[in-house]
Formats: sequence, C-alpha cells, structure tokens
Amino acid sequence: MSKPEPAKDNGKMENTEIVTSAGTMVLVDNIRLPKSFESNRPLAEHVQCLQDLEMREDDVMILAYPKAGTHWLWEITSMLLAGKAEHEKRVKEMAMMEATAIEHIQAQPSPRVLNSHLPLRLLPRQIKEKKVKVIQVYRNVKDLFVSKYFHMKQMPGGEGMTWDLFEEEFFSETAPMGNFFNYMKEEYQFRKDNPDIPFFVVSFEDSKEHPGKVIRKLAQFLGVEASDQLCQDIAEATTLTKMREADKLKQKASHIPLINFYRKGQVGDWKNHMTVAQSERFDAAIKQLESCDYNFRFEL
Ligand code: A3P
Repeated sequence: MSKPEPAKDNGKMENTEIVTSAGTMVLVDNIRLPKSFESNRPLAEHVQCLQDLEMREDDVMILAYPKAGTHWLWEITSMLLAGKAEHEKRVKEMAMMEATAIEHIQAQPSPRVLNSHLPLRLLPRQIKEKKVKVIQVYRNVKDLFVSKYFHMKQMPGGEGMTWDLFEEEFFSETAPMGNFFNYMKEEYQFRKDNPDIPFFVVSFEDSKEHPGKVIRKLAQFLGVEASDQLCQDIAEATTLTKMREADKLKQKASHIPLINFYRKGQVGDWKNHMTVAQSERFDAAIKQLESCDYNFRFEL
C-alpha cells in the first residue's frame, strides 16, 4: 500500500476557495472543507496552527470520517471521563478541531475530548510525541454515503445537491471533507507506522449492536473506573432518541443554526436508497481497503 504524502509542513498551505454544489468550500492539502468552518483564520492557516498545537498527555482524540458516529462516541467518551451519564453542555462542534478557533481549543480544561474529521497528517504533530489516546470510529461506506448525502443536502448552499452528483463527488479525490477511501487507508497506515500510540478502533455497527460492551471496553481503554451501572446509564443516555433530544437543546442554547445530525441511525438503510449498480460500485471500491483491518458490516 502506498504511503500518503506528508502534509506540506515547511511551506505555506494554500487556501483555495471553490464554489461547489455543497456551497463554498476551501481546498486545503487536497481536502475540501466547508468555508463555514472558518473561525478567526483562513482555513489553511488554521490547519497549520493545528499541526503545531501543544497537546496534553490526558487529551483524547476522536477521529472519524464524517457520518461514522463521531457525535455518539464523543458523547460516550465525555461521559466516561466525567464519570456520569450526563450530556456535555456544549455541542460537539465546539471541540471539533477544524471548526473551532485554536485559542478556544487551548482554553478548554483537561481532560479535553477533541474530535476531528481531518486525516492524521493534518493534525497536531504532538499526538505522536505525547502518545495521545486516539479513538477511531468507522462505519460501512454504504450507510455512511447515504447519511452524508442527506447531511450535505441540508447544509446552507446544499439544496441543489443531487444523488448522482453526490456520488461522483464522493468518489473523487477531492470529495468534500476528503476522499473516504484515502482517509481510511491513511488512518490504517498511521496506526501501523505508530504502534506505540494507543488506538481504540470501533465501528458504528458494533456500537449499535452491543453498546454496553463497547462502552465497557472503551472505559478500559481510557483507564477509567466504570461500574456496570454507569455503563448501563451511559448506554441509555446515548440512544439515538436521547442523542437527538440533547443535541436539539444544545443547539438552541448555543444559538447556532439548527442542523439535524440524527436522521435514522440505522445499519442497512442504504438498501432503501441505492441501485444495484451503485451498491456494486461500492463493493468494488471497498476492495482497495482489503489489506486494512476494518470489518465493514453492511447489515446486522
Ligand atoms: P444517520 O444519518 O444515518 O442517521 P457523525 O456524528 O459522525 O456526523 O454521524 C452521524 C450519524 O450517526 C447519523 O447517522 C446519526 O443518526 C448516527 N448516530 C448518532 N448517534 C447515534 C446513536 N446513538 N445510535 C445510532 N446512530 C447514531
């Protein structure tokens, strides 16, 4: 498997704006990011500052390609570290590295549960040095595709997005938020190249099938004491319905535009949307990840 190109950390990254069917995006090191992520710096500069960010030994990073279940695992992890089944007061986006000002990330109290959809080459170099704990969440690509399509459509400027156009963009090298297949290869390669970095790799499907088991294993990984009762309480507090309700309240309180991150939360919904030809296109494309250790499950 070919190694990903290292990020251009010596020169300045370019900040190229492009108008797409999903609104204005900014191309940073071949990753298309929504311009709406911009906080107090152009996105390319922001990403460079992120790479230099000082990490703390007790930081926890949640990494996932969009729509793999980032909110879910972020909430569970935050609850485990807090030792109580209470939802975070903030929306997840406040701890999302590409969409939050650097100063904001720096001001967060420890232990920080940060999250990102960026590939590791664009994230803080100190993740390696400080051996920061990383949780990688992944989801079968067909359900992820459907989820991302409906998500993009509801974003400002995304109304004109069509299913066919989205499919073409998804498979392109510069897909919005990066190409899924490249992302998955790169994360796997990073794990292989850095065996001393603690990684917890978990799938959406496993979390859906056995939430209690995943929560217990995650507690062990994080090194926190979690009673059976706490694990059960967290599983109940993070069902799809509870996550949706909590997020609505949080979004209202933060006065940010309401975005529905929770559509169906199912495994296998892709069958209601994809043609046989489309499904086969994904089956063929997923073969490029065969040498990685992911266990993609398309139904339960
Ligand atoms: P759907 O669009 O299929 O509903 P992310 O947080 O990475 O953006 O992922 C969002 C996806 O995770 C959405 O999928 C959302 O419904 C799903 N999700 C979040 N919490 C969930 C839960 N507790 N159970 C099942 N799915 C959940």
